[in-house]
Order: sequence, then structure tokens, then C-alpha cells
Amino acid sequence: MALYSEKVMDHFMNPRNVGVIENADGIGEVGNAKCGDIMKMYLKIDNEIITDVKFETFGCASAIASSSMATELIKGKPVNEAMELTNKAVAEALDGLPDYKMHCSVLAEEAIQAALEDYRNRK
Ligand code: FES
Repeated sequence: MALYSEKVMDHFMNPRNVGVIENADGIGEVGNAKCGDIMKMYLKIDNEIITDVKFETFGCASAIASSSMATELIKGKPVNEAMELTNKAVAEALDGLPDYKMHCSVLAEEAIQAALEDYRNRK
């Protein structure tokens, strides 16, 4: 079996929602101390619905694919639903990640949680 699923390769080669949102309603930045990878999420929220989401990831292929997929999973969703997004759901949506790459999907979950927390704190 190939190391990475086609979906991981697709989201790594053509990541969705890359960039920055000016005047974002919530921003979350997290890092993994071991590998040094960093992920930043920007959320635009209107009436408790995530109307736009962008990310910047300085990291490995799995981290880029995970952040891309995570943005797709929460775009258009209510804040409450996005709060429940787990790294497992992100990895499953990517048709799996190698075990030793699961921590990369954790970074996506944490970045979204951090951005949602920032949004809550600003209110
Ligand atoms: Fe660091 Fe993937 S190796 S996030």
C-alpha cells in the first residue's frame, strides 16, 4: 500500500483554503514542539456560522493535507459543530494517515479549537 492515500496527496498538492483572512473573527496558532511544524487558522464567523476559513501551515505533507481537509470540514458549519471536529475525523476524511503521522492531524484539530476559543474570547 502506498504510504499516503490519494486524498492526502490531493490535499497536499492542491491545498484548499490557503491564505489569510483580514479582519478574521478568530485566529488560532499552534505548533508541535517535536517536529517544529506550525499551523495558523483564520475564521470568519457570521451569526455563529463559519462563513470562511483559511490556513497557513509551515509543516509536513500530512499537516498541510490535514489543515486543508479540516477547513473543508468546518466551512459553512455552525461553531458548535466545528468545536466537535476531532483529528480522527480529519484523518478518516483523508482515507487515513500512517500511525506515526496522526499527530499532524492533531495539529489541525488544535488550530481550529484555538481559533474558536479566540472567537469566544473576543465576544
Ligand atoms: Fe510535524 Fe507532521 S511532522 S506536523
